[in-house]
Formats: sequence, C-alpha cells, structure tokens
Amino acid sequence: MSLDLPPNDLSHVVSADRAHVWHHLSQHKPYETVDPRVFVEGKGMRLWDVTGREYLDAVSGGVWTVNVGYGRTSIADAVRDQLVKLNYYAGAAGNVPAALFAERLIQKMPGMSRVYYSNSGSEANEKAYKMVRQIAHRQHGGKKWKILYRDRDYHGTTIGTLATSGQDQRAAQYGPYPDGFVRVPHCLEYRKQWDVANYGERAADAIEEAILREGPDTVGAIVLEPITAGGGVIVPPEGYWPRVQEICRKYGVLLHIDEVVCGLGRTGTWFGYQHYGVQPDIVTMAKGVASGYAAISCTVTTEAVFEQFKDDASDPLGYFRDISTFGGCTAGPVAALENMRIIEDEGLLENTVAMGARLMGNLRVLQERHAVIGEVRGKGLFCGAELVADRQTREPLDERRVQAVVAECLAQGVIIGATNRSLPGLNNTLCLSPALIATEADIDRITEVIDGALAKVMG
Ligand SMILES: Cc1ncc(COP(=O)(O)O)c(C=O)c1O
Repeated sequence: MSLDLPPNDLSHVVSADRAHVWHHLSQHKPYETVDPRVFVEGKGMRLWDVTGREYLDAVSGGVWTVNVGYGRTSIADAVRDQLVKLNYYAGAAGNVPAALFAERLIQKMPGMSRVYYSNSGSEANEKAYKMVRQIAHRQHGGKKWKILYRDRDYHGTTIGTLATSGQDQRAAQYGPYPDGFVRVPHCLEYRKQWDVANYGERAADAIEEAILREGPDTVGAIVLEPITAGGGVIVPPEGYWPRVQEICRKYGVLLHIDEVVCGLGRTGTWFGYQHYGVQPDIVTMAKGVASGYAAISCTVTTEAVFEQFKDDASDPLGYFRDISTFGGCTAGPVAALENMRIIEDEGLLENTVAMGARLMGNLRVLQERHAVIGEVRGKGLFCGAELVADRQTREPLDERRVQAVVAECLAQGVIIGATNRSLPGLNNTLCLSPALIATEADIDRITEVIDGALAKVMG
C-alpha cells in the first residue's frame, strides 16, 4: 500500500489521530482545539508534517534515537530482504542477523561478551535487574539483592524501572514500587551538594556511603547513565567514574551502565562509558542501536556474569528464565547491522566529535550573549543548556518560559527539546541531540534559531 495520500486524505489522518490516538507524554486537552503534529516523511536531518511544513530536527526523532538520520533506504532494504527470508523465531533459537550483530557489537565493547535481545530500553534494564536478583538468589543466598540508582537518572517506564527513577515527576502517581532500590545523589556540580575541589570523587563517595548504610552484603548492583540524558544532560565531573569503578570493585557491586541514549555513537565514541576508561559488568542499549528503523534493545554482559547462569545444569531453575517474544524478531538486528555499517563507513563518530565541538562552541557564544544560559554541558552531539532566571543565585527559569523557547524554535522550523516533567522545579535544560550526520550548516542553523528564540522569549 502506498502512503502517497492526496491532501484531503491527510486531513482525514489528522482527524483519525485526534479521535483515536493516545499520544505519549501528552496532555490531550489542547488537541480539542489545536491539531496534534503528525509527521509524514523524513530525509536526513529533515522532517515534513501533514501540512507540508519542513523542520530541521535537532533531537533525532524527539528522544535522541535516529542517529543515522531519516530515509535510509539501505536499512529499509536490509530489513525487507530479511523479513521475506525469515521474520521471526523465538529467541530460544538463534537467527542469522542476531548472531552477526552480537559478534560485531562485542568487537566494539572490549571486556564484554554476551548479548541478550529485547525491544526497548525499559525492557533491557528490567532484564538486567532480573539478572542481578537471580545472581543474588543463586550466588549470595538471597543477599545482594538491592540495586542502587542515581538522582536525576532515568531508566524506563515500567513499574520496575520507574522504581529506579531519579526523576520524581516520572515516577509520581504510579507507585507503590517494589522494594530494594536505593537512591544515591546526582553528580551535577552546577547544582552542587558539597563545597569541595574534587567534586567528582566526592559525588562518587556518596555511593560508598549508601553501600555502607545499606550494608555491602545487601547491595548487588548500581545502575548509572554514563552521561545523564533526560535529567538535564549531566556530564560527570573529572574523577567521578574512576572512583565509581573502584567502589564497585571494593564491595563486589555489579556496575550496570545504561547506554540507552549514549550508545552507538551519540557522544563520539561507540559507548559513553568508553570516554572514562571504566569496565562495566552489564551494559544496556536501545534507541540508537537501529536508529528507530526497527525496535531492538540489548542487555550486554561480561562472560563472568553470564557464567553464573550456567554453573549448575542440574538445577531446573538455574538459568536465566526470561523471554522477550519480540526479542526474536530479525528486523532489529538486521537493521542494527546496517546502522553500524553506516556509522563506520560514513565516519559518523568522527563527525560527531567535530560537530559536537562546533555545537558546544556555538552554545558558549550564546551563553555570552544571553544571561539566561546558566551552564552549557555536553559531549559529542549530546548537549544541554541550563536556563536560569538569575545567574548569581542559579534560580531555575520558570518551566513555561523554557517551553516558550522550545515553541519559538518550532515556530521557526527547528525542533529542539527540554527536560520535561522530570524534576520538580528543574525542568529548565534545553536538550540538543542532532543526528550524527549533522553538517556545519545544520549546527549553525540550530543555534541561530535558539539565539532568536531566547531573545524573543526573554525580551
Ligand atoms: C537513559 C534511558 N534509559 C532507558 C530509557 C527507556 O527506554 P524506552 O523508552 O525504550 O523503554 C530511556 C528513554 O528515554 C532513557 O533515556
């Protein structure tokens, strides 16, 4: 079926959407009088909506996902060819793209060994939590069952992953939550909690304090974003990650790094943690793995973690008794293989480093011009600008004005993001994550439009 509908059919699409689609993360009252945005087509960095209006997408599909850009026919062809050959068989068996993608992925992740497939970032993290819990039962007599998570981090939308939400507005009204998840402080120095010179180490020491408070024999793992995404684009300070690694090793706590946003090139390395020289035990990834061309997520472990699920073949409960039905779809790994090939062949990691530096540079120029920009943060094509009402006191800018900046950029045809219903009083960071194919002209256009929007909204 062709989707080349005449204009009157597209207006029908909008009324069908208004009548029947329940949009994610949306208050629907405004749609009683205003049409929701409905996109029709994408090419490279650009999108077109049902009215034919063009947008420059500075957030890779809204939520830092479409890393290689829109309209990649080679991914579509690879998926099509695979689907007609074999679309699915449950993941208890293997399939060709799943085996080949696992091999390619592990080559990019020294020290890691096994890939467990599922469909979303939330699901990949749930799998990891289940692994930690089962290890606690099997190896530690039921102890070491607690999982630490960090203030301002996000790990998903299911009840289990929301139990590890460091973003109170995401978790509010969906409790009660299961036991055994313990919060540690964030590491954002701009909103400092300690007045010390070595902020990174001090913030990491808070993890050790939590482990000692809970009892080291009760703590099995810690889950951390390498660079916090939706919580405000928080790049950990110097010294943070090495100290986290040291603490995890000291207390036998598994280090689970959530690469759902940073994974597959977003920060200019294959994975965010690879900037910091740490060796995780578990890594989860989703969004950029196939750039949104198919649903796929991975829970990747070391061989040492994997080994603990096969050491007693006589125990009927002694293996990872988990399944993800759609983790057996072949579209995900075949799209992921082609996505990875594109990143390599087009030099997109290098482009991300170069364009990321340009984006940060442009944002710093804006910071000099606009007092409302309190801090600019980021790595690669993953940047944030925290907006404040007062630079001295760092009082956050009112969320409505932050959203007005986003709306003004949209009115000028550039889609940017902002922290949204995450942190009470602190939804004040503009978020930028253009596709890894961004050009100098794209980057300059994005910051030029933000410049105009800040001038307009702040008067
Ligand atoms: C760091 C992080 N982890 C996990 C998730 C959840 O991923 P999904 O929405 O695919 O379940 C997200 C989603 O935004 C995320 O940003």
